[in-house]
Formats: sequence, structure tokens, C-alpha cells
Amino acid sequence: MFASPIIVAPMAGGTTTPELALAARRAGAFAFAAGGYRTAASLAEHLAPLRTAGGGFGVNLFVPRTAPLTAADAAALARYRTELAAAAERLGAGLPADLPGPADPKAQDFWDEKLDLLLVDPVPLVSFTFGLAPDSVVAALHAKGTRVVASVTSVAEAVAAARTGVDALVVQHYNAGGHSAAFLPGPSQGAPGVVELVAEVRNAVGLPLVGAGGIGDAATAKAVLAAGAEAVQLGTAVLRSDESGARALHKDALADPAYTATAVTRAFTGRAARALVNDFVRQHSASAPHAYPEVHFLTGPLRAAAAACGDRESLNLWAGTAWQKAAAGPVEGIVKGFLDGL
Ligand SMILES: Cc1cc2nc3c(=O)[nH]c(=O)nc-3n(C[C@H](O)[C@H](O)[C@H](O)COP(=O)(O)O)c2cc1C
Repeated sequence: MFASPIIVAPMAGGTTTPELALAARRAGAFAFAAGGYRTAASLAEHLAPLRTAGGGFGVNLFVPRTAPLTAADAAALARYRTELAAAAERLGAGLPADLPGPADPKAQDFWDEKLDLLLVDPVPLVSFTFGLAPDSVVAALHAKGTRVVASVTSVAEAVAAARTGVDALVVQHYNAGGHSAAFLPGPSQGAPGVVELVAEVRNAVGLPLVGAGGIGDAATAKAVLAAGAEAVQLGTAVLRSDESGARALHKDALADPAYTATAVTRAFTGRAARALVNDFVRQHSASAPHAYPEVHFLTGPLRAAAAACGDRESLNLWAGTAWQKAAAGPVEGIVKGFLDGL
């Protein structure tokens, strides 16, 4: 289904560039465009080079939250704003007075308009994360000849996703860098690693599977394939590549032995995500509320100011547990290294 056992992950927020996707594809991987955090117009622009190049590729979208914040989470969000005021002031950043309400197209990550775009001008494959696309969306994409992939983090989520009619699942382990795809409450840590998680899901659903999370070398990728995945999805492994749009501060931090651990935190966005442990993670993880995307919008100016003044201790340095294996250089060499070792 992906025409390659190696997939280069969609990484929203500027990391996935068209150059990264195209170079990964030339090297023999399946590649994604990152549709998250974009308007439809920006997505159309991001996709243009991939459409021109032709051939297979995927587009990834964030499934927006539909429920309002609970009263407890809203109260925790207000307390978190107060807590962040000092950090924002130190960086010379103002925290936004108003956050987009749940129905605001920005809070919905421009879901409707991006789906319209993908239905009017279809692409070969669409993957979703942060939730399940409604059955009607899956059917509409299928009617346009688009394959549909859901991201899951547990057997329960895999079973729920399979019921929506998707064609394949990305099975993301807790070791993954960046945001967790989780959408059902449940234990955050189950299977010890991606190999075991893929094996568990393999026993429960018959769909093609993609293993993701903490895959830093070909030997691990090979074990994930042997456990029943058709492909593996690499994120952190390509973060430092030449074509990655990750900030230099982020790329340098990944190679800096001063960072010795990653942790899953809601401190930056209100949604669980794995990052290098820096001051911001240490200081704010315990109090950060379950409030995505509100916290994402709340901390946005603070993170922008931190990036502008080179303060990596206040930045979201997304990283999976295999971050120390991430190499610099052209993505072609990284992808070939994985392909050659399978
Ligand atoms: C910087 C970064 C951004 C990411 N953005 C997305 C995204 O936009 N959509 C998505 O489905 N997954 C995203 N992910 C998760 C990847 O799809 C993948 O599950 C994860 O990177 C795999 O774990 P690894 O980082 O240990 O390789 C992101 C990961 C990172 C590191």
C-alpha cells in the first residue's frame, strides 16, 4: 500500500518541507506532506511540488476536538496562564488575551476547508491523527480514490479505527517524538516498545499496519516489520536532516549531550507530546492542563520569542526516545541506511 517499507512521517509546524518529502521519496521512501497547523491555502501551496512531481504521497491532517473543555480543564487553563506570565515576561512575549473558541476555524485547524480541498483536488492518501475521522469523511475520500489511514496508540484505538472503514493504521508507540496520536482514555504506557505494540494490534485487526515510535535504526525497523507491520514511519530519525525544516536550535539540541532524557509533557500545547527534557518541561509539566489546542495558542508567542532569542530551554524540542541515533546530512543517506539494513 505504501510501495516502500520506510515512510518519512508528516511533521507539522515547519519540520516537513516539500524538499524533505521529495528527497525522501527519491531515496525510496513513502513520504507525507504535513497538513496540520495550516490553512487550506497554505496546504495547497505545500502540496504543489508533490503534485507536480507525481507518484504516490500522503497528506496528514489533525482531527479537531469536538467537545468543549470541561470546567476543571478550563480552570486549570486559567491557572496555567497565571503560571506562565513570568516566563512570558522574561522573554518579552505577551500571552494572548483571547484564545480561539472551540468552534473557531483556527481551533478546528481549518478542518472543513482542508477536507474540501482534498475532495476537490484529491491526493493518493490521507492520514489522520489526534482522533478518528467520521465514517462519512472516510467514505467521501474513498469515493475520490483516496486511501485513508488512521493513527492509533493501543489495541482499543485500533479496533475503533478499523470500524470507520480506513485502509491501514499507523500504530504509534509511546516512545514516539512529538504529539501522541492517542484519542481514547487509557494507560499511556502499555506495550514496552513498538515491536510489541505492533504484534498486539496485529492479533486484533486485519488491516495493514505501520509501526512508529522510537525507531532509530534498521535493526529495530526490521523487528517491527517482522512483528507484522508493512512499513515503519520515521520522525525523529530525519529531524536533523538537511531538508528538515526543524529550527537549528532544535537540530543542535538533538545532537547535544547536555540533553540526557526525553519526557511526555502537555506543557507546550496541552496535548501529550514527547520532547527533550529542558527547563520548560521541568517547570511546567506537572501543572499543564489537558487543553489542546488552547495551550498551543497560549504558549505560541512565548515559544516564538524563545526561538527568536535562541532560548532552547523554553522551546518544544520534540524528540522520540531514539533521538541520540538521529543523524545529520541529506535525508537520502538516512533513508538508504534504513532500507539497506532491512
Ligand atoms: C517534530 C515532529 C512533528 C510531528 N508532527 C506530526 C504530525 O503533524 N502528524 C502526525 O501524524 N504525526 C506527527 N509526528 C509523529 C510522527 O508521525 C511519528 O509518529 C513519530 O515521529 C514516530 O516516532 P519517532 O519520532 O520516535 O520516530 C511528529 C513527530 C515529530 C518528531
